[in-house]
Amino acid sequence: MTNTNLFGVYGAGGFGREVMPILSRFAAQSYPIGTWRTVFVDDAAAGDANGQYSVMTLGEFAKAEAQSREIVLAVGSGELRQKLADKCTDTGVAIGALTAPNAMVLDNVTFGQGAVLCPFSMVTSDTVIGDLFQANIYAYVAHDCIVGDRVTLAPGAKVNGNVEIGDDVYVGTGALIRPGQPGNRLKIGAKAVIGMGAVVTSNVEPGAVVVGNPAKAMVR
Ligand SMILES: CC(C)(COP(=O)(O)OP(=O)(O)OC[C@H]1O[C@@H](n2cnc3c(N)ncnc32)[C@H](O)[C@@H]1OP(=O)(O)O)[C@@H](O)C(=O)NCCC(=O)NCCS
Repeated sequence: MTNTNLFGVYGAGGFGREVMPILSRFAAQSYPIGTWRTVFVDDAAAGDANGQYSVMTLGEFAKAEAQSREIVLAVGSGELRQKLADKCTDTGVAIGALTAPNAMVLDNVTFGQGAVLCPFSMVTSDTVIGDLFQANIYAYVAHDCIVGDRVTLAPGAKVNGNVEIGDDVYVGTGALIRPGQPGNRLKIGAKAVIGMGAVVTSNVEPGAVVVGNPAKAMVR
C-alpha cells in the first residue's frame, strides 16, 4: 500500500496551470515530503503539462495507487465544471475546494462543494455561495449576497453587497456590480453573462449578455 496522497487539477488549460501551484503549495505545507503528488487530470491532453507535472485521464487518476485522492475543478466554464463534477461522482473521485493562502473569507460565509478561491480574491461577511463557485484573481463578493451554483467570477470582478446572483452566471473581467439594498437585493438572473468592464447598475434578466457603462443588453 503506497503512502501517496494524490491531488489532481482537473483541466490542464490556462486556469488549471494557475491553480496547480496553489494546490501544490497546499500539499507541500500539509503533508511530509514524499507523501504527496500533484498531477493534472485532463481527458483531452496527455503526456505532461508545464514540463513538470504528468497528465492523467480521470480513469487513470481514479485507479492510480494512492492512500487518498482528491480533485480540484479548474475550468472557467460553470457548465463544464458541472460535467466534470458529474464524471468525478460517477468515478468515485472526491471533489475538493481550494483557497489560495492570501484569499480571504470573513464571517459567516457558507460554500457548496468545490469552491476555488484564487490569489487576492475575497468573500466578505454574511454571504451564501452555492456549488462549484470560482473566484479568479482579485475578484470579490461583498456582504449579504446570495450566489447560486456554478457561478464564475473572472479576474477583478467586483460583486458589491446585497446582490443575488442566479445559477450559471459568468461575471467578466473587471466588471462592477452595484450594491443592492438590505431587503432588496440587486438581482442577476440565472445564466446571465456580464461582459468585461461592465458597470451593472440595475437588475439583469436571466440569460442576458450585458456590456458597457451603464450595462445594457448586447445587441446582436
Ligand atoms: C461580452 C462577451 C461575452 C461578448 O462576447 P462575444 O459574443 O463573443 O462578442 P464579440 O467579441 O463578437 O463582440 C461583439 C461586439 O461587442 C463588443 N464587445 C464585446 N465585449 C464587450 C465588452 N465587454 N464591453 C463592451 N463591448 C464589448 C465588441 O467590440 C463587438 O463590437 P462591434 O460589433 O462593434 O465590433 C465577451 O466579450 C466578454 O466580455 N467576455 C468576458 C471575458 C472574460 O472576462 N474572460 C476572463 C477569462 S479569465
